[in-house]
Amino acid sequence: MATTAIIGAQWGDEGKGKIVDLLSERADIVARYQGGPNAGHTVVVQNQEIVLHQIPSAILWPHTTCLIGNGVVIDPQVLLEEVTLVEKRGYKVKGRLFISDRAHLILPYHRLLDTAGEQNQGDKKIGTTGRGIGPAYMDKVGRLGIRICDLMDREELIERISAAVATHNQALVSIYHLNPLDADQVIQSCLSFAEQIGPMIIDTSVALYQAMNEGKSILLEGAQGTMLDVDFGTYPFVTSSNPTAGGACTGLGVAPNRIDEIVGVVKAYTTRVGMGPFPTEFDKEFSEKIRRIGSEFGATTGRPRRCGWFDAVVVRLAVRINGLTSLVITKLDVLDSLEEIKICTGYRYKEQLLEDYPPSLKVQIEAAPVYESFPGWMTDSTSATTWKELPEKAQNYLNRIKDVTGVPISMISVGPDRTQTIMLPLK
Ligand code: GDP
Ligand code: IMO
Ligand code: MG
Repeated sequence: MATTAIIGAQWGDEGKGKIVDLLSERADIVARYQGGPNAGHTVVVQNQEIVLHQIPSAILWPHTTCLIGNGVVIDPQVLLEEVTLVEKRGYKVKGRLFISDRAHLILPYHRLLDTAGEQNQGDKKIGTTGRGIGPAYMDKVGRLGIRICDLMDREELIERISAAVATHNQALVSIYHLNPLDADQVIQSCLSFAEQIGPMIIDTSVALYQAMNEGKSILLEGAQGTMLDVDFGTYPFVTSSNPTAGGACTGLGVAPNRIDEIVGVVKAYTTRVGMGPFPTEFDKEFSEKIRRIGSEFGATTGRPRRCGWFDAVVVRLAVRINGLTSLVITKLDVLDSLEEIKICTGYRYKEQLLEDYPPSLKVQIEAAPVYESFPGWMTDSTSATTWKELPEKAQNYLNRIKDVTGVPISMISVGPDRTQTIMLPLK
């Protein structure tokens, strides 16, 4: 059986949660590889919605094992709340959820540094989720981070947290004029967390290696999206990890040649939460209309999402750097009532036609999208379960997406429910 990575190919919120849940019916293991509680992955089962932030989106199936990999930054408080929520809904978590011994923790100083840092930036803020993601990854690469395995060694934990709190208190007090944190309190809460998650801690890389050798079916679940990638996204308006395919390898300790399929999830249009360039963004009025039809509000922060046309330049970047083997197109139904629909195929910048996403923020902001226009289908698509049941004009639109991105479409989603999905055979 295959190992498949599911990756956001725009600015996040493409519907990864729905797709991972759906594909998990046939998966033995589902593993998250990066990000943290900045993610909000929505799963809808029989009209019941659940938003998962750190637990893989497969937890609602009784047979799947869920792993949180070393590349994820884990907020203990959020994780315990999430486990309680999932259990309250009647799903079993114990014995099914395992956490990498090498994953890093998000601690109270990370959250404080994230929100205070953003406030300090004024107009230049990134618009982060305020979940402490950036500062936690900064500690990881700065070699000041606290890992899950440190929780198992009391002496090591006390030493490492005391050093980190001493360092971060300097910034909290002298730069942000906040109260210093008490290292003992942070240590105590970590020890209590350690007791609660002790049985869940494993070497997830070893577990995946064994499972692959046994021929198990495995999904690797990305958070965020390609355009939020710290290397290839709209830097500095990005997250602090690699949501792209390379991140799946480093974030799980899985070798690149063990991944068989890499599926990119995209909306039939585009959205983005937070600040930063967005070449195909609608004007205010049209953005509000699509936001209303598509319920485009952040699953983690509730912030309104910015909306725009499908951008093939963005998706081609995702195809190239992730090696996408197919696309899943979600939220096609949101376009059902539109008279005209557009696809951006390139950008015009000064005298040049750009076909590849430019690195410079200035160019990204000044570049004018070049559009192809399509007549809308003006028909309800939400009950279509086969390609043939889709209106011809919707088929034409999807065929053009396939052509301009150069990747076949493996699934089309026409509503949030599991049943509102069209599976396509790949030729
Ligand atoms: P993720 O972060 O990529 O998992 O996506 P989110 O869960 O943040 O946002 C996607 C939203 O769209 C959720 O509210 C889903 O329930 C919803 N959704 C997913 N697929 C479809 C679809 O095909 N049509 C509609 N109307 N909603 C969808
Ligand atoms: P899922 O997994 C959409 C955005 C934030 C901000 C930037 C940096 O649900 O697709 P951070 O808190 O990560 O430092 O914020 O990244 N962002 C997301 N946008 N979906 C997400 O996750 C996101 N996670 C972070 O809005 O612009
Ligand atoms: Mg989301």
